[in-house]
Amino acid sequence: MIRKPIARIAGLGVAVPDRIVTNHDFEKTLDTSDQWIVERTGIKERRWSDPDMTVAELSKRASLIAMEKAGVGPLDLGAIILATATQDRLLPSTACDVQALLGATNAAAYDLAAACSGWLFGLTQAEGLIASGQAEHVLVIGVELLSRIIDHTDRTTAILFGDGAGAAVVSKAIGDTGMLSTFIRSDGTLAELLWRPAGGARIPISQGVVNDRNHYIKMAGREVFKSAVLTMAEACDEALKRAGVTADQIDLLVPHQANIRIIQATADHAGIPMEKVMVNVDRYGNTSSASIPLALAEAVEQGRVKKGSLLLLVAFGAGFTWGSTVVRW
Ligand code: ACO
Repeated sequence: MIRKPIARIAGLGVAVPDRIVTNHDFEKTLDTSDQWIVERTGIKERRWSDPDMTVAELSKRASLIAMEKAGVGPLDLGAIILATATQDRLLPSTACDVQALLGATNAAAYDLAAACSGWLFGLTQAEGLIASGQAEHVLVIGVELLSRIIDHTDRTTAILFGDGAGAAVVSKAIGDTGMLSTFIRSDGTLAELLWRPAGGARIPISQGVVNDRNHYIKMAGREVFKSAVLTMAEACDEALKRAGVTADQIDLLVPHQANIRIIQATADHAGIPMEKVMVNVDRYGNTSSASIPLALAEAVEQGRVKKGSLLLLVAFGAGFTWGSTVVRW
């Protein structure tokens, strides 16, 4: 039986920096090529912000669009959940900066650390806040300025990541419109396959840390790849089962945009043909927690998502974390 939704995405907004960095730009500074990057990742270009951009400002831009689409003002927001791996500063939360920028004085605001799965974790929390009566409208933001934390001398990671923001206003479900299922999981035993070793309390920033470049993202690409494929497959199965729907009923799969080969493997496992899969990793690279809202908003704009469409959203990220949701639009 198809589950009745508690909450729905009432408005969606995105914002990306104007500056486009192509694969050819990397050929000037790194031992890499457009051909290698396209073949191994599917990425052709990504957006990187100028130095004066902040995570809070990019979040605000996406949020204002989402709020306008939902017909919700700043005082209507009961909570702001900001999923990111690139906070503007470690204390206090960037969500509180966004709350101040929006004037959302009735909202509890906090950051959520679940890397690329963060926006889906946020949707799940928003559903819980609405179900418990804590909030009527929750702003869920996925935002990253990953260009600030990648090692620009490391060809194995520098080429992968981009900057961007996506925001959703999550409100009470109307009829059968909304999230039919949510599923989130983690495995902390694999944390060091994709991490930023220093800069927190365990290894505070020091000259030695900077010299060793340990304040930047490090990744064991091949191992991460394998885990992503396995866990995203599990997440697809779980979300479908919990929603009470089958893969052939899905109109569009919107997966985390990390690598075209991971996207293809996920679609393959779920039994969803590629013409029913949203892909924009070619133009934005991996924007971590912003990637699903960026892809979803583009699908809506292209008319690939219509009222009543059944969507499967699925993500995987550092932690490891993974999650999924089936949404009736
Ligand atoms: N240009 C040219 N050669 C390169 C580059 C590059 N940019 N990067 C790596 N190589 C080389 C390697 O050095 C290696 O050379 P060697 O054989 O001489 O040692 C060779 O290419 C193969 O390297 P692999 O790492 O095995 O390449 P692979 O096919 O696995 O592709 C990639 C690497 C693209 C990183 C892939 O493993 C991947 O996408 N992994 C998952 C990444 C991911 O999804 N991360 C994000 C998770 S989400 C989050 O939380 C942020």
